[in-house]
Amino acid sequence: MSETYSPGLEGVIAGETAISTVETGLTYRGYAIEELAEHSTYEESAYLVLYGELPTVQQAAEFRARLGAAANVPPEIIETLRKIPASAPTMDVLRSACSLLAHWDPEAADNSHAANVRKTERLLAKFPVIVAARQRLRSGQDPVAADSKLTLPANFLWMLRGEKPSERQVKALDVSLILYAEHEFNASTFAARCICSTLSDLHSAITGAIGTLKGPLHGGANERALEVLLAVGSPQQAEAWVNAAFARKDKLMGFGHRVYKHGDPRAVILKRLTSAVAAETGNQALEQTAEIIEQMAWSQKKLPPNVDWPCARLYHYLGLPMDLFTPLFVIARVVGWSAHVIEQLDNNRIMRPRALYTGPAVRKLPR
Ligand code: ACO
Repeated sequence: MSETYSPGLEGVIAGETAISTVETGLTYRGYAIEELAEHSTYEESAYLVLYGELPTVQQAAEFRARLGAAANVPPEIIETLRKIPASAPTMDVLRSACSLLAHWDPEAADNSHAANVRKTERLLAKFPVIVAARQRLRSGQDPVAADSKLTLPANFLWMLRGEKPSERQVKALDVSLILYAEHEFNASTFAARCICSTLSDLHSAITGAIGTLKGPLHGGANERALEVLLAVGSPQQAEAWVNAAFARKDKLMGFGHRVYKHGDPRAVILKRLTSAVAAETGNQALEQTAEIIEQMAWSQKKLPPNVDWPCARLYHYLGLPMDLFTPLFVIARVVGWSAHVIEQLDNNRIMRPRALYTGPAVRKLPR
């Protein structure tokens, strides 16, 4: 056995991909994330990630129409959402719902490229319906039906609130979804690729990816980052709070990254947008607190913020419940995960690495 061992697979090339890279800044299918955030919509970027090219006007319209037609979930699943205890985190509910959706998907067992693309579109359309419906049900309200004329982020806010959202809110959510859509071989994407490499199905891979994303070292950090900010309380308390956290050797949620040691480009884009939304919504104090923490993390530990740091504040300023932050990451990332599943299956080899054994030497049973 050739021995190369890297804890946490740091620096290990674990596969090939044509979907995105972090080598020259973050690009999706060759387009810089900065340009996509400024000039595309989430739906266009999702199409790009899934199909490899940006849609023409007609393809974009047809894509929207297919998403609109699929923006519903079987009543049996809505009933299940109603019955799951209200205390269950939305991430857990979404993980279960993804698994349940397979039972009503006519192509659940079809692992062909074309069927997996169609299933991805259905998951993309149905996840916002599930998250919004669950949130309303647990608050004692009835679900609101999707409006097929609306874009995916506008529809999500509509189904959540039963009110038409403002353009500004939709645009802010849209950009965050673009930035969350895809990110090379992170833990959840790698989990999805491992699952499908056994020739298991798309729903299983996405269910596993949701479970992986939930952890606070990964997507779960956007919820934990807001908890930090709310715990700090005010700009005046920020310095003492950070010093105490560093003294305890706590991990600061929303900071650090395995690959981006000098800064996460997504965080830079989102910080500008978040500051603008903070000013419009009267949240400057929280922004100031965040800025002090950010500067201390950099000056004392050389830790830059990752995408979850500004995103947590953005979602809070948009009035979204904290429990929905990581589910929104899922809503965006399902296209990235699925594109990786499809790419893996197009040229599959089962994932089966080796382990460095650290247990006892061979020994005899004591009888
Ligand atoms: N707070 C405090 N110290 C940190 C942090 C942090 N957020 N991140 C890294 N460090 C420190 C480590 O303690 C370590 O210090 P040491 O060398 O003195 O022991 C050093 O920086 C290197 O950190 P590692 O943990 O080895 O870095 P790794 O690449 O394994 O971890 C990770 C990356 C998991 C993202 C880490 O930075 C972290 O836990 N961050 C907080 C959680 C978070 O925000 N996750 C979201 C990631 S982005 C995403 O998933 C969308």
